[in-house]
Amino acid sequence: MRCFTLGESSCYLFIGESESPFGELVKYVIVYFSRFGNGKKLVDYLVGKLKEKNGVVQLFKVDEANPSAMPEADVYVFSAAAEAMSIQRDMKKFMKNLNGMDGKKYGIINTHGMKKDRLDKIEKILSKKKMVKVAEVAFHVEGDVQTGNGLMAGWEAKLDEFAGKLEQI
Ligand SMILES: Cc1cc2nc3c(=O)[nH]c(=O)nc-3n(C[C@H](O)[C@H](O)[C@H](O)COP(=O)(O)O)c2cc1C
Repeated sequence: MRCFTLGESSCYLFIGESESPFGELVKYVIVYFSRFGNGKKLVDYLVGKLKEKNGVVQLFKVDEANPSAMPEADVYVFSAAAEAMSIQRDMKKFMKNLNGMDGKKYGIINTHGMKKDRLDKIEKILSKKKMVKVAEVAFHVEGDVQTGNGLMAGWEAKLDEFAGKLEQI
């Protein structure tokens, strides 16, 4: 037990050493597709952010997860590149095959090389699964995209805001 003393003889706060000072753990499952590594950079950063705030995070590449037997989580995150005017096809197939996700909360991330993002395509699929969106964010990539260095300045702050919305559930 630790006691933080603010006044002369008063003890305002006790924290048992086996307890987290932040309350309940929040469980996240993240599934992503990233061809060149830009999206991978985003999800790796997000994992770090969520863990800082008491999150327990499982991260899967799209081919490592089973859409009809997803692990339990408080929030699911799907991160996908735009390809061929839509969402990259493995990710699209994965989301279309999700089962038993009614009422589950989700956040979505989209990287895109053209002007238009494809968040709407993801949302359309997941709303058919009766999932509930809590956050979305898109990142336009340009320049050194094929070496995974196509994210534009300020991407971390954008992702911090997204992580904040996920944490508010
Ligand atoms: C085969 C292919 C098709 C693509 N088609 C599109 C597209 O239709 N619209 C778009 O905005 N970006 C398109 N892009 C760009 C990708 O969105 C971009 O490479 C990706 O977001 C980068 O993320 P990643 O490094 O995680 O793969 C395409 C890229 C590839 C390789």
